[in-house]
Amino acid sequence: MILLDGKALSTLLIDSVREKAVQLKPALAVILVGEDPASLTYVRNKQKACERAGIRYLETHFPVTVSQEELLRKIDEVNRDPAINGLIVQIPLPPHIRVPLVIRAIDPKKDVDGFHAYNIGKTVLSPEFEDLPPATPLGIVKLLDHYKIPIQGQEAVVVGHSNIVGKPISIMMLNRNATVTTCHIFTRDLKAHTKRADILIVAAGKPKLITADMVKKDAVVIDVGITRMKDGTLQGDVDFEAVSKKASYITPVPGGVGPMTVAALILNTIRATERQRSDE
Ligand code: GUN
Repeated sequence: MILLDGKALSTLLIDSVREKAVQLKPALAVILVGEDPASLTYVRNKQKACERAGIRYLETHFPVTVSQEELLRKIDEVNRDPAINGLIVQIPLPPHIRVPLVIRAIDPKKDVDGFHAYNIGKTVLSPEFEDLPPATPLGIVKLLDHYKIPIQGQEAVVVGHSNIVGKPISIMMLNRNATVTTCHIFTRDLKAHTKRADILIVAAGKPKLITADMVKKDAVVIDVGITRMKDGTLQGDVDFEAVSKKASYITPVPGGVGPMTVAALILNTIRATERQRSDE
């Protein structure tokens, strides 16, 4: 079994853009609402990555009571600011704020999370059209590519069909010529599908959902889940201890997909900045 070291690759990728960042002087705006502990951690990691890459980091932290109007006003202000190249709004948002409205308000050229329908649409077309693909799926593809894990012709099974991971990674695997099955909460016999996977990508948010009996020998296992347990430890969606004995490659939690999402955000910020400059 080989560990897919997302932490190490993330550092490598972040360092690889430093020269470009010196020339481009990009800036990323991050909007955070409320005090969700996981979001606070993610945002700190994004800040550290920006500092390492040489990207100016601008954070706006609203209280959980912020109105939708105020949030949309801030997004509009960032959209209009030519000195800011990327904008992300950390999700989840409180229930009184409608996520689709917020995402729709972000200028697609600055949407470095790749959540906007315009960027999702381009991601659906083909890898050549991928412009700002969603950060977590992009991180997963970069991880597979780095370890030279073939995708073409492989049986890829995705567990989870969220807009930010399950759906776009299914599409990106399809566009790389995998045979893709997307499972979700209504899938009748999950194990029947996961057992067939050459590449199993799990983004369900359910700790230890995937046990060893659900995994084919020598499968490649990508665990996107990360849940903080009552004892303070972080747990993935895969029973790592047992599944790692069967897998050929597997991501640890933490240190697998999480840091790759951050690296992908940095790559997207550089790309967005380059595109904005060439449009001028
Ligand atoms: N919440 C969970 N993952 C992400 C992400 O990649 N970006 C944002 N903005 N929010 C998230």
